[in-house]
Amino acid sequence: MKLTDAFIMPNPRDTSGFPPGFVWGAATSAQQIEGAANTDGRGASIWDAFCAEPGRIKDASNVDVACDHYHRSAEDVALMHWLGVNAYRFSISWPRVQPRGRGAWNAAGFAFYDRLIDQLLLAGITPHATLYHWDLPLALHREIGGWLSRDSTNHFADYAAEVARRFGDRLASISTLNEPWCVATLGYETAQFAPGHASRAGAAQVSHHLLLAHGQAMRAMRAHTRTNLGIVLNHTPPYPAEPTEDDRRAARLNDGLTTRWYMDPIFLGQYPADVLEHLGADAPRVETGDLTTIRQPLDFLGINFYTRKLVSTRVPPVAAPGDLGFTDMGWEIYPQALMQHLLRVTREYTPPPIYITENGMANADELAADGRVHDAGRIDYLRLHLQAVAHAIAHGADVRGYFYWSLLDNFEWDSGYAKRFGLFHTDYATQVRTAKDSAHWYREFIAAHARQHRGG
Ligand code: FCB
Repeated sequence: MKLTDAFIMPNPRDTSGFPPGFVWGAATSAQQIEGAANTDGRGASIWDAFCAEPGRIKDASNVDVACDHYHRSAEDVALMHWLGVNAYRFSISWPRVQPRGRGAWNAAGFAFYDRLIDQLLLAGITPHATLYHWDLPLALHREIGGWLSRDSTNHFADYAAEVARRFGDRLASISTLNEPWCVATLGYETAQFAPGHASRAGAAQVSHHLLLAHGQAMRAMRAHTRTNLGIVLNHTPPYPAEPTEDDRRAARLNDGLTTRWYMDPIFLGQYPADVLEHLGADAPRVETGDLTTIRQPLDFLGINFYTRKLVSTRVPPVAAPGDLGFTDMGWEIYPQALMQHLLRVTREYTPPPIYITENGMANADELAADGRVHDAGRIDYLRLHLQAVAHAIAHGADVRGYFYWSLLDNFEWDSGYAKRFGLFHTDYATQVRTAKDSAHWYREFIAAHARQHRGG
Protein backbone atom coordinates (compact mmCIF):
# COMPACT_ATOMS: atom_id res chain seq x y z
CA MET A 1 0.00 0.00 0.00
CA LYS A 2 1.27 3.46 -0.79
CA LEU A 3 1.74 5.86 2.08
CA THR A 4 -0.90 8.14 0.58
CA ASP A 5 -3.51 5.39 0.70
CA ALA A 6 -2.65 4.51 4.26
CA PHE A 7 -2.88 8.05 5.43
CA ILE A 8 -6.10 9.34 3.95
CA MET A 9 -9.18 9.51 6.14
CA PRO A 10 -11.63 6.87 5.05
CA ASN A 11 -14.35 9.46 5.19
CA PRO A 12 -13.39 13.12 5.03
CA ARG A 13 -16.50 14.06 6.96
CA ASP A 14 -15.55 11.76 9.82
CA THR A 15 -14.73 14.19 12.59
CA SER A 16 -14.83 11.64 15.39
CA GLY A 17 -11.11 12.00 16.10
CA PHE A 18 -11.75 15.43 17.62
CA PRO A 19 -13.33 15.77 21.06
CA PRO A 20 -16.28 18.05 21.77
CA GLY A 21 -15.19 21.60 22.44
CA PHE A 22 -12.26 21.30 20.04
CA VAL A 23 -11.11 24.75 18.96
CA TRP A 24 -11.30 25.38 15.21
CA GLY A 25 -9.52 28.47 14.06
CA ALA A 26 -7.59 30.41 11.49
CA ALA A 27 -4.49 32.52 12.06
CA THR A 28 -2.92 35.73 10.79
CA SER A 29 -0.41 38.28 12.01
CA ALA A 30 -0.50 42.07 12.15
CA GLN A 31 2.46 42.80 9.91
CA GLN A 32 1.20 40.44 7.23
CA ILE A 33 -2.36 41.74 6.88
CA GLU A 34 -3.02 45.08 8.53
CA GLY A 35 -1.38 47.62 6.22
CA ALA A 36 -2.21 51.16 7.41
CA ALA A 37 1.47 51.50 8.13
CA ASN A 38 1.33 55.25 8.73
CA THR A 39 -2.20 55.54 10.02
CA ASP A 40 -3.45 56.76 13.41
CA GLY A 41 -0.03 57.19 14.96
CA ARG A 42 1.46 53.74 14.29
CA GLY A 43 5.24 53.70 14.63
CA ALA A 44 7.50 52.01 12.08
CA SER A 45 8.58 48.40 12.56
CA ILE A 46 11.80 46.68 11.55
CA TRP A 47 9.87 45.06 8.68
CA ASP A 48 8.83 48.45 7.25
CA ALA A 49 12.51 49.36 7.14
CA PHE A 50 13.61 45.94 5.84
CA CYS A 51 11.17 46.16 2.91
CA ALA A 52 12.72 49.49 1.94
CA GLU A 53 16.18 47.88 1.57
CA PRO A 54 16.74 46.83 -2.06
CA GLY A 55 16.93 43.09 -2.62
CA ARG A 56 15.45 42.01 0.70
CA ILE A 57 11.94 41.11 -0.50
CA LYS A 58 11.71 38.88 -3.57
CA ASP A 59 8.96 40.85 -5.32
CA ALA A 60 10.24 44.19 -3.98
CA SER A 61 6.91 44.75 -2.24
CA ASN A 62 6.22 46.39 1.10
CA VAL A 63 3.71 46.26 3.93
CA ASP A 64 2.15 49.71 3.57
CA VAL A 65 -1.22 48.29 2.50
CA ALA A 66 -0.95 44.47 2.69
CA CYS A 67 -4.55 43.17 2.98
CA ASP A 68 -5.75 46.52 4.33
CA HIS A 69 -7.18 44.59 7.25
CA TYR A 70 -6.88 47.68 9.47
CA HIS A 71 -9.75 49.18 7.48
CA ARG A 72 -11.53 45.92 6.72
CA SER A 73 -11.59 44.07 10.02
CA ALA A 74 -15.40 43.96 10.11
CA GLU A 75 -15.47 42.34 6.67
CA ASP A 76 -12.76 39.88 7.66
CA VAL A 77 -14.60 38.91 10.83
CA ALA A 78 -17.67 38.32 8.64
CA LEU A 79 -15.59 35.93 6.51
CA MET A 80 -14.63 34.02 9.65
CA HIS A 81 -18.22 33.91 10.77
CA TRP A 82 -19.20 32.39 7.42
CA LEU A 83 -16.33 29.92 7.72
CA GLY A 84 -17.66 28.79 11.08
CA VAL A 85 -14.41 28.96 13.01
CA ASN A 86 -14.89 29.42 16.73
CA ALA A 87 -11.46 30.99 17.28
CA TYR A 88 -9.15 33.46 15.60
CA ARG A 89 -5.45 33.87 16.23
CA PHE A 90 -4.12 37.33 15.40
CA SER A 91 -1.20 39.40 16.60
CA ILE A 92 -1.02 42.83 18.12
CA SER A 93 1.36 45.20 16.41
CA TRP A 94 3.66 46.50 19.13
CA PRO A 95 4.56 49.68 17.15
CA ARG A 96 0.87 50.38 16.59
CA VAL A 97 0.12 50.47 20.30
CA GLN A 98 3.49 51.78 21.49
CA PRO A 99 5.11 53.55 18.54
CA ARG A 100 8.65 53.71 19.98
CA GLY A 101 8.57 50.39 21.84
CA ARG A 102 8.84 52.20 25.19
CA GLY A 103 7.22 55.27 26.63
CA ALA A 104 3.88 56.59 25.39
CA TRP A 105 0.98 54.33 24.40
CA ASN A 106 -1.02 55.05 21.25
CA ALA A 107 -4.71 55.20 22.15
CA ALA A 108 -5.84 54.91 18.52
CA GLY A 109 -3.80 51.74 18.13
CA PHE A 110 -5.38 50.13 21.17
CA ALA A 111 -8.81 51.27 19.92
CA PHE A 112 -8.34 49.20 16.76
CA TYR A 113 -7.75 45.98 18.75
CA ASP A 114 -10.54 46.90 21.13
CA ARG A 115 -12.94 47.03 18.15
CA LEU A 116 -11.55 43.87 16.62
CA ILE A 117 -11.99 41.92 19.85
CA ASP A 118 -15.58 43.15 20.17
CA GLN A 119 -16.34 42.27 16.54
CA LEU A 120 -15.01 38.76 17.14
CA LEU A 121 -16.91 38.22 20.37
CA LEU A 122 -20.14 39.43 18.75
CA ALA A 123 -19.61 36.87 16.00
CA GLY A 124 -19.07 34.10 18.56
CA ILE A 125 -15.36 33.81 17.76
CA THR A 126 -12.89 33.67 20.63
CA PRO A 127 -9.88 35.97 20.22
CA HIS A 128 -6.37 34.53 20.71
CA ALA A 129 -3.72 37.23 20.67
CA THR A 130 0.02 37.00 20.07
CA LEU A 131 2.15 39.86 21.38
CA TYR A 132 5.17 39.51 19.14
CA HIS A 133 4.87 38.25 15.60
CA TRP A 134 8.12 39.80 14.38
CA ASP A 135 7.20 43.49 14.06
CA LEU A 136 9.65 45.04 16.50
CA PRO A 137 9.27 48.82 16.85
CA LEU A 138 12.01 50.29 14.66
CA ALA A 139 12.89 52.90 17.28
CA LEU A 140 13.71 50.16 19.78
CA HIS A 141 16.01 48.56 17.22
CA ARG A 142 17.74 51.81 16.26
CA GLU A 143 18.01 53.29 19.74
CA ILE A 144 18.94 50.31 21.92
CA GLY A 145 19.80 47.54 19.42
CA GLY A 146 16.46 45.73 19.62
CA TRP A 147 16.64 42.12 20.78
CA LEU A 148 20.44 42.30 20.89
CA SER A 149 20.00 44.43 23.97
CA ARG A 150 19.08 42.79 27.27
CA ASP A 151 17.01 45.84 28.09
CA SER A 152 14.52 44.92 25.35
CA THR A 153 13.18 42.22 27.69
CA ASN A 154 12.00 44.85 30.19
CA HIS A 155 10.29 46.88 27.48
CA PHE A 156 8.57 43.78 26.16
CA ALA A 157 7.33 42.87 29.65
CA ASP A 158 5.88 46.39 30.07
CA TYR A 159 4.08 46.08 26.75
CA ALA A 160 2.78 42.61 27.67
CA ALA A 161 1.46 43.84 31.02
CA GLU A 162 -0.35 46.72 29.33
CA VAL A 163 -2.08 44.43 26.82
CA ALA A 164 -3.02 41.99 29.59
CA ARG A 165 -4.41 44.82 31.71
CA ARG A 166 -6.50 46.27 28.88
CA PHE A 167 -7.69 43.14 27.09
CA GLY A 168 -6.99 40.13 29.31
CA ASP A 169 -10.61 39.70 30.34
CA ARG A 170 -11.79 39.43 26.73
CA LEU A 171 -8.97 37.35 25.24
CA ALA A 172 -9.16 33.55 25.29
CA SER A 173 -5.38 33.39 25.31
CA ILE A 174 -2.26 35.48 25.01
CA SER A 175 0.94 34.12 23.47
CA THR A 176 4.11 35.98 24.23
CA LEU A 177 6.22 35.20 21.15
CA ASN A 178 5.65 33.66 17.77
CA GLU A 179 8.48 31.38 16.68
CA PRO A 180 11.52 32.73 18.54
CA TRP A 181 13.75 30.42 16.46
CA CYS A 182 12.77 32.33 13.30
CA VAL A 183 13.28 35.67 15.01
CA ALA A 184 16.76 34.79 16.25
CA THR A 185 18.10 32.60 13.47
CA LEU A 186 16.50 34.10 10.37
CA GLY A 187 16.57 37.66 11.68
CA TYR A 188 20.01 37.76 13.32
CA GLU A 189 22.10 34.89 11.90
CA THR A 190 21.15 34.20 8.27
CA ALA A 191 19.79 37.72 7.67
CA GLN A 192 16.87 36.36 5.63
CA PHE A 193 14.40 38.26 7.83
CA ALA A 194 14.38 41.67 9.48
CA PRO A 195 16.46 43.19 10.86
CA GLY A 196 18.93 41.38 8.56
CA HIS A 197 21.74 40.99 11.06
CA ALA A 198 24.31 38.23 10.36
CA SER A 199 26.14 36.90 13.40
CA ARG A 200 25.88 33.51 15.05
CA ALA A 201 26.87 34.86 18.45
CA GLY A 202 24.40 37.72 18.04
CA ALA A 203 21.61 35.31 17.17
CA ALA A 204 22.38 33.12 20.18
CA GLN A 205 22.26 36.15 22.46
CA VAL A 206 18.98 37.25 20.85
CA SER A 207 17.48 33.80 21.42
CA HIS A 208 18.32 34.08 25.11
CA HIS A 209 16.84 37.58 25.33
CA LEU A 210 13.69 36.35 23.61
CA LEU A 211 13.29 33.53 26.10
CA LEU A 212 13.96 35.91 28.95
CA ALA A 213 11.44 38.38 27.50
CA HIS A 214 8.92 35.54 27.36
CA GLY A 215 9.51 34.65 31.02
CA GLN A 216 9.37 38.25 32.22
CA ALA A 217 6.21 38.88 30.18
CA MET A 218 4.52 35.78 31.62
CA ARG A 219 5.24 37.01 35.15
CA ALA A 220 4.14 40.56 34.37
CA MET A 221 0.89 39.43 32.75
CA ARG A 222 -0.10 37.10 35.60
CA ALA A 223 -0.48 40.18 37.78
CA HIS A 224 -3.17 41.55 35.44
CA THR A 225 -5.12 38.66 34.00
CA ARG A 226 -6.34 35.15 34.63
CA THR A 227 -6.59 34.27 30.95
CA ASN A 228 -4.50 31.50 29.40
CA LEU A 229 -0.89 32.44 28.78
CA GLY A 230 1.67 30.61 26.68
CA ILE A 231 4.11 30.71 23.79
CA VAL A 232 4.13 29.62 20.14
CA LEU A 233 7.11 27.64 18.84
CA ASN A 234 7.82 26.42 15.33
CA HIS A 235 8.78 22.79 15.08
CA THR A 236 10.20 21.24 11.92
CA PRO A 237 11.21 17.76 13.11
CA PRO A 238 14.49 16.59 11.60
CA TYR A 239 14.90 13.07 10.22
CA PRO A 240 18.23 11.50 9.25
CA ALA A 241 18.20 11.04 5.46
CA GLU A 242 20.08 7.74 5.72
CA PRO A 243 20.57 5.36 8.65
CA THR A 244 24.21 6.39 9.12
CA GLU A 245 25.84 7.59 12.31
CA ASP A 246 26.72 10.92 10.66
CA ASP A 247 23.16 11.66 9.58
CA ARG A 248 21.81 10.66 12.98
CA ARG A 249 24.24 12.93 14.74
CA ALA A 250 23.48 15.82 12.40
CA ALA A 251 19.72 15.34 12.86
CA ARG A 252 20.15 15.31 16.62
CA LEU A 253 22.07 18.58 16.51
CA ASN A 254 19.46 20.13 14.23
CA ASP A 255 16.80 19.09 16.73
CA GLY A 256 18.88 20.68 19.47
CA LEU A 257 19.27 23.98 17.64
CA THR A 258 15.64 24.31 16.62
CA THR A 259 13.45 22.47 19.11
CA ARG A 260 15.34 21.64 22.32
CA TRP A 261 17.04 25.06 22.47
CA TYR A 262 13.61 26.54 23.24
CA MET A 263 11.75 23.63 24.80
CA ASP A 264 14.45 22.70 27.34
CA PRO A 265 14.79 26.10 29.04
CA ILE A 266 11.01 26.62 29.03
CA PHE A 267 10.10 23.19 30.40
CA LEU A 268 13.28 21.89 32.04
CA GLY A 269 15.02 25.11 33.06
CA GLN A 270 18.28 24.44 31.21
CA TYR A 271 19.86 24.82 27.79
CA PRO A 272 20.76 21.54 26.04
CA ALA A 273 24.40 20.66 26.77
CA ASP A 274 25.15 19.42 23.24
CA VAL A 275 24.05 22.73 21.71
CA LEU A 276 26.01 24.78 24.24
CA GLU A 277 29.06 22.73 23.30
CA HIS A 278 28.36 23.22 19.60
CA LEU A 279 28.06 27.00 20.03
CA GLY A 280 31.25 27.21 22.07
CA ALA A 281 32.33 30.83 22.40
CA ASP A 282 29.14 31.94 20.60
CA ALA A 283 26.90 30.63 23.40
CA PRO A 284 24.84 33.38 25.03
CA ARG A 285 25.68 35.17 28.23
CA VAL A 286 23.21 33.92 30.81
CA GLU A 287 22.87 35.63 34.19
CA THR A 288 22.01 33.99 37.49
CA GLY A 289 18.26 33.58 37.79
CA ASP A 290 17.57 33.85 34.04
CA LEU A 291 16.63 30.21 33.65
CA THR A 292 14.26 30.41 36.60
CA THR A 293 12.59 33.40 34.93
CA ILE A 294 12.32 31.54 31.63
CA ARG A 295 10.81 28.42 33.18
CA GLN A 296 7.36 29.85 33.92
CA PRO A 297 4.34 27.57 34.14
CA LEU A 298 2.44 27.72 30.85
CA ASP A 299 -1.31 27.31 30.38
CA PHE A 300 -0.80 26.04 26.86
CA LEU A 301 1.86 25.38 24.26
CA GLY A 302 1.35 26.56 20.69
CA ILE A 303 3.07 24.51 18.00
CA ASN A 304 3.42 25.70 14.41
CA PHE A 305 4.05 22.83 12.02
CA TYR A 306 4.51 22.91 8.25
CA THR A 307 6.98 20.24 7.21
CA ARG A 308 9.84 18.04 8.34
CA LYS A 309 13.57 18.55 7.76
CA LEU A 310 15.50 15.80 6.03
CA VAL A 311 19.07 15.96 7.34
CA SER A 312 21.80 14.62 5.08
CA THR A 313 25.57 14.88 5.53
CA ARG A 314 26.30 13.81 1.94
CA VAL A 315 27.58 16.25 -0.66
CA PRO A 316 25.34 16.99 -2.44
CA PRO A 317 22.74 16.19 0.21
CA VAL A 318 20.11 13.49 -0.27
CA ALA A 319 16.92 15.20 -1.42
CA ALA A 320 13.60 14.76 0.37
CA PRO A 321 11.55 12.10 -1.45
CA GLY A 322 8.32 14.07 -1.35
CA ASP A 323 6.00 11.09 -1.76
CA LEU A 324 3.08 13.40 -1.07
CA GLY A 325 4.58 16.30 -3.00
CA PHE A 326 5.93 19.72 -2.10
CA THR A 327 4.15 23.00 -1.43
CA ASP A 328 4.71 26.21 -3.36
CA MET A 329 7.34 27.12 -0.74
CA GLY A 330 9.19 23.95 -1.80
CA TRP A 331 8.39 22.39 1.58
CA GLU A 332 7.90 18.62 1.61
CA ILE A 333 4.39 17.49 2.58
CA TYR A 334 5.02 15.06 5.42
CA PRO A 335 2.10 14.93 7.86
CA GLN A 336 3.39 11.83 9.66
CA ALA A 337 5.98 14.06 11.29
CA LEU A 338 3.24 16.09 12.95
CA MET A 339 1.76 13.02 14.60
CA GLN A 340 5.13 11.64 15.65
CA HIS A 341 6.30 15.00 16.93
CA LEU A 342 3.19 15.61 19.04
CA LEU A 343 3.71 12.25 20.71
CA ARG A 344 7.39 12.91 21.28
CA VAL A 345 6.71 16.30 22.87
CA THR A 346 4.07 14.70 25.07
CA ARG A 347 6.48 11.97 26.16
CA GLU A 348 9.55 14.10 26.74
CA TYR A 349 8.14 17.31 28.19
CA THR A 350 4.71 16.55 29.72
CA PRO A 351 3.44 19.84 28.28
CA PRO A 352 0.23 21.70 29.10
CA PRO A 353 -2.61 21.48 26.53
CA ILE A 354 -1.27 21.90 23.01
CA TYR A 355 -2.76 24.02 20.23
CA ILE A 356 -1.63 23.71 16.64
CA THR A 357 -1.34 27.46 16.24
CA GLU A 358 -0.27 27.28 12.57
CA ASN A 359 -0.41 24.68 9.84
CA GLY A 360 -1.04 25.23 6.17
CA MET A 361 0.43 25.38 2.71
CA ALA A 362 1.34 27.85 0.01
CA ASN A 363 -0.24 26.94 -3.29
CA ALA A 364 -0.06 28.61 -6.70
CA ASP A 365 -3.73 29.56 -6.50
CA GLU A 366 -5.53 31.36 -9.27
CA LEU A 367 -9.03 32.66 -9.66
CA ALA A 368 -10.67 30.35 -12.21
CA ALA A 369 -13.07 31.44 -14.94
CA ASP A 370 -15.96 30.25 -12.75
CA GLY A 371 -14.91 32.78 -10.11
CA ARG A 372 -13.67 30.12 -7.71
CA VAL A 373 -10.26 28.94 -6.58
CA HIS A 374 -9.81 25.20 -7.07
CA ASP A 375 -7.10 24.43 -4.53
CA ALA A 376 -7.51 20.67 -4.29
CA GLY A 377 -3.93 20.33 -3.06
CA ARG A 378 -4.71 22.43 -0.01
CA ILE A 379 -7.75 20.29 0.82
CA ASP A 380 -5.51 17.21 0.78
CA TYR A 381 -2.94 18.97 2.94
CA LEU A 382 -5.58 20.04 5.44
CA ARG A 383 -7.18 16.61 5.57
CA LEU A 384 -3.88 14.80 6.03
CA HIS A 385 -2.71 17.09 8.80
CA LEU A 386 -6.03 16.95 10.60
CA GLN A 387 -5.78 13.22 10.42
CA ALA A 388 -2.28 13.39 11.88
CA VAL A 389 -3.63 15.48 14.76
CA ALA A 390 -6.50 13.02 15.31
CA HIS A 391 -4.03 10.11 15.42
CA ALA A 392 -1.88 11.97 17.93
CA ILE A 393 -4.92 12.65 20.12
CA ALA A 394 -5.90 8.99 19.93
CA HIS A 395 -2.43 8.06 21.15
CA GLY A 396 -2.43 10.43 24.10
CA ALA A 397 -1.41 13.91 22.91
CA ASP A 398 -3.57 16.57 24.56
CA VAL A 399 -4.29 18.73 21.51
CA ARG A 400 -7.16 21.14 22.10
CA GLY A 401 -7.29 23.16 18.91
CA TYR A 402 -6.14 23.73 15.34
CA PHE A 403 -5.57 27.07 13.60
CA TYR A 404 -5.14 27.01 9.85
CA TRP A 405 -2.46 29.36 8.49
CA SER A 406 -3.73 31.56 7.08
CA LEU A 407 -7.19 33.04 7.00
CA LEU A 408 -6.33 34.91 3.82
CA ASP A 409 -3.45 35.31 1.38
CA ASN A 410 -1.05 37.88 2.79
CA PHE A 411 2.49 39.25 2.94
CA GLU A 412 4.73 36.22 3.22
CA TRP A 413 7.81 37.96 4.62
CA ASP A 414 10.83 37.84 2.28
CA SER A 415 8.64 36.14 -0.39
CA GLY A 416 6.42 39.21 -0.55
CA TYR A 417 2.94 38.55 -1.94
CA ALA A 418 4.00 35.72 -4.26
CA LYS A 419 3.13 32.89 -1.87
CA ARG A 420 -0.53 32.25 -1.13
CA PHE A 421 -1.38 30.45 2.13
CA GLY A 422 -4.98 31.64 2.55
CA LEU A 423 -8.31 29.90 2.84
CA PHE A 424 -9.49 33.10 1.17
CA HIS A 425 -7.87 34.41 -1.97
CA THR A 426 -6.83 38.06 -1.78
CA ASP A 427 -6.89 40.19 -4.92
CA TYR A 428 -4.33 42.80 -3.93
CA ALA A 429 -5.48 45.31 -6.56
CA THR A 430 -9.10 45.38 -5.39
CA GLN A 431 -8.82 43.82 -1.90
CA VAL A 432 -11.62 41.42 -2.87
CA ARG A 433 -11.54 38.19 -0.86
CA THR A 434 -12.79 34.94 -2.42
CA ALA A 435 -13.38 31.72 -0.50
CA LYS A 436 -11.19 28.99 -1.99
CA ASP A 437 -12.47 25.42 -2.32
CA SER A 438 -10.43 24.64 0.81
CA ALA A 439 -12.44 27.22 2.75
CA HIS A 440 -15.62 25.45 1.70
CA TRP A 441 -14.11 22.11 2.75
CA TYR A 442 -12.94 23.40 6.15
CA ARG A 443 -16.33 25.02 6.72
CA GLU A 444 -18.11 21.73 6.07
CA PHE A 445 -15.67 19.84 8.29
CA ILE A 446 -16.19 22.22 11.22
CA ALA A 447 -19.97 22.07 10.73
CA ALA A 448 -19.86 18.26 10.60
CA HIS A 449 -17.90 18.20 13.87
CA ALA A 450 -20.50 20.43 15.51
CA ARG A 451 -23.35 18.24 14.22
CA GLN A 452 -21.62 15.09 15.45
CA HIS A 453 -21.43 16.46 18.97
CA ARG A 454 -25.00 17.69 18.95
CA GLY A 455 -25.90 14.13 18.00
CA GLY A 456 -27.20 15.37 14.62
C1 FCB B 1 5.43 30.90 9.93
C2 FCB B 1 5.06 32.29 10.37
C3 FCB B 1 3.86 32.86 9.67
C4 FCB B 1 3.81 32.48 8.21
C5 FCB B 1 4.05 31.01 8.02
C6 FCB B 1 4.00 30.55 6.58
O1 FCB B 1 6.77 30.68 10.18
O2 FCB B 1 4.78 32.31 11.74
O3 FCB B 1 3.85 34.24 9.87
O4 FCB B 1 4.65 33.27 7.48
O5 FCB B 1 5.28 30.64 8.57
